Amino acid sequence: MSERFLVTGGAGFIGSHVADALVSRGDRVTILDDFNDYYDPAVKRRNVAAHADVIEADFRDPAVWDALPVDDFAAILHLGARAGVRPSIDDPLLYSTTNVDGTVLALRWAASGTQPLPVVFASSSSVYGDVNAVPFSEEDAQLAPISPYGVTKAACEMMLGTWRDCYGVPSVALRFFTVYGPRQRPDLAIHKFAKMIDAGEAIPVFGDGSSSRDYTHVSDTTAGVLAALDRLRAGTLSEPVYNLGSDSPITLDQLIAAVERAVGKAAIIDRLPMQQGDVMRTWADLTRSRAELGYSPSVDFDAGLADFVSWLRA
Ligand SMILES: NC(=O)c1ccc[n+]([C@@H]2O[C@H](COP(=O)([O-])OP(=O)(O)OC[C@H]3O[C@@H](n4cnc5c(N)ncnc54)[C@H](O)[C@@H]3O)[C@@H](O)[C@H]2O)c1
Repeated sequence: MSERFLVTGGAGFIGSHVADALVSRGDRVTILDDFNDYYDPAVKRRNVAAHADVIEADFRDPAVWDALPVDDFAAILHLGARAGVRPSIDDPLLYSTTNVDGTVLALRWAASGTQPLPVVFASSSSVYGDVNAVPFSEEDAQLAPISPYGVTKAACEMMLGTWRDCYGVPSVALRFFTVYGPRQRPDLAIHKFAKMIDAGEAIPVFGDGSSSRDYTHVSDTTAGVLAALDRLRAGTLSEPVYNLGSDSPITLDQLIAAVERAVGKAAIIDRLPMQQGDVMRTWADLTRSRAELGYSPSVDFDAGLADFVSWLRA
C-alpha cells in the first residue's frame, strides 16, 4: 500500500510540483489549499487538475485540521504560506496569522496522532537578510530578516525547534532560494519580466541592476524537498535546516539579458529605486545540503529560462 502525504499549499507553484513528484513516484497525496486570490485562483486550479484528493480550506481554521485523520498520513509537507516579500510590508498581520499561526496549527496536528508526524517546512533565503557574508551558510550566518515575510519564516524555524524539543515532532526547514520554472508565481521577476518584454511593455527595474539572486529551478528544489522528506523519515538528518539554492547567483542586469535572449526581444527598462524589504543579494552555500541530502542542482539557468518561456507561451 502506498503512503499518503499532506501537502499544504499544494495548489501553488512549488507545492504543485512537489505533489506531482510524490504521485509520480507512487505516493498518495492530499492537497490542502484555500485557493486564495493572491494571484488568479484559476491558475491554482489548473496546477492541481490532475489530483483527485484536494481539500479547499483555510489552514488558519483549527477545525480544518481536526477533520483530517492524522494517523492516515506518513508526513506533512507544509509549503502553504503567504509568499511575497513586498506585500508583507503592506499587510504584516495577514503574513503572521497565515505563516506563523498556520505553522503552529500544522505542528499541533502533527503532534496529535499515535506517533508524531514528520514535518517538512518551506523556509526561505529571506531569513538571512542583508548582513551576512556570501555565500549564506546555515552554520555561520545569523538570522537577520528585513521584511515581515522573512521574520515569519525565521519565527517558524524556531517554532519547529520548540515542537521538536517539547512535543517530539521531527522536522526539517528547507530554505528555498528564488525558485523559478513552469507555474512560477506571476509576481516574481522572471515571470513578470518575460510576460512584459514579450508584450513590448516597460519593465520596472528596482535599483542599479547589481542586486543578485541565487535562482533555482523548481525541479531542483523539488528533488531537494523529496530527498529531505525521505531522510527526515529515515532519521538520518543531523541538522534542522538546509539551504536549497543553486550556488550560482545572477545579477538583475544578467537576468534581464537572459530573459531578453529567451524571449527573443529587447527589454524597455523603467529604472526605479530599490524597494523596501528587498535584500541586495542571495547566494546559497550548499555544503550541508550536498553532503547530507545528496542535493545537486543541475538545471543550467539559460536552459531553465527557455523551459519557463515555452511554458508561459503554451
Ligand atoms: N517561490 C519562491 O521563490 C520561494 C522562495 C522561498 C520560499 N518560498 C516558500 O515556498 C512555499 C511555496 O511558495 P510558492 O512560490 O509556491 O507560493 P504560492 O503562493 O504559489 O503557493 C502557496 C500556496 O499556499 C496557499 N495558501 C496560502 N495561505 C493559505 C491558507 N491560509 N490556507 C490554505 N492554503 C493557503 C496558496 O493558495 C498557494 O496556493 C511558501 O511557503 C513560500 O514562502 C518560496
